[in-house]
Amino acid sequence: MDVKTKVGENKAFAERSYNQAARIGRKQVQTMTQRETAWCLLTEFTQSESLRKHALAVEACMRAYARKAGGDEELWGMVGLLHDFDYEKYPSAEDHPLKGSEILKERGYSEEVRRAILSHAQYTGVARLSPIEKTLFACDELAGFITACALVKPGKSLAEVEAPSVRKKMKDKAFARNVHREDILEGAAELGVELEEHIAFCIEAMRAIARELGLDGSAAKSA
Ligand SMILES: [Fe+2]
Ligand SMILES: [Fe+2]
Repeated sequence: MDVKTKVGENKAFAERSYNQAARIGRKQVQTMTQRETAWCLLTEFTQSESLRKHALAVEACMRAYARKAGGDEELWGMVGLLHDFDYEKYPSAEDHPLKGSEILKERGYSEEVRRAILSHAQYTGVARLSPIEKTLFACDELAGFITACALVKPGKSLAEVEAPSVRKKMKDKAFARNVHREDILEGAAELGVELEEHIAFCIEAMRAIARELGLDGSAAKSA
């Protein structure tokens, strides 16, 4: 190979690397902005710390399932993060998540995001058809239930929560009464996953952000 060809090849390689870096850089900026915009929308409407944490927990489960199912992690995560963003302001069944859906439309969110969010509430009549819709429904109540299970542990941490004990707790009707067990069962069935496997998967996803969820054990130590 003569020197001229070698220089040409190096130049082409450098250009390819530069273009690739620019593409990755652009994608990261877009991703960050999208996630940040969604977080701002959530915190604009939701002051409750526990509701924000619920949003983060469902987001974490959705992201983990997107990775497993080959879905768009940013999209699935966003749907999880925003599914209850209007709940604090509009908690009634006539309003939530319909009002939220209108707000999402005004703010330019896609039909796919809005449909998935509408479908998480049984009473809207929006059927859960796509994997993102089925996954949101399957994770929503379960994330709440896992949180409740962690909070009654001595260390108040997700590290102490295991799937078999969560499954057992589901039979205790007096515990976390507001969590609909039938929705958890229906959600896992629709998703086509075995219940205990689904619980373990969501515990694992939530453990990855245990600190943000206040379930890393530090709450018990400082109490
Ligand atoms: Fe909801
Ligand atoms: Fe929810």
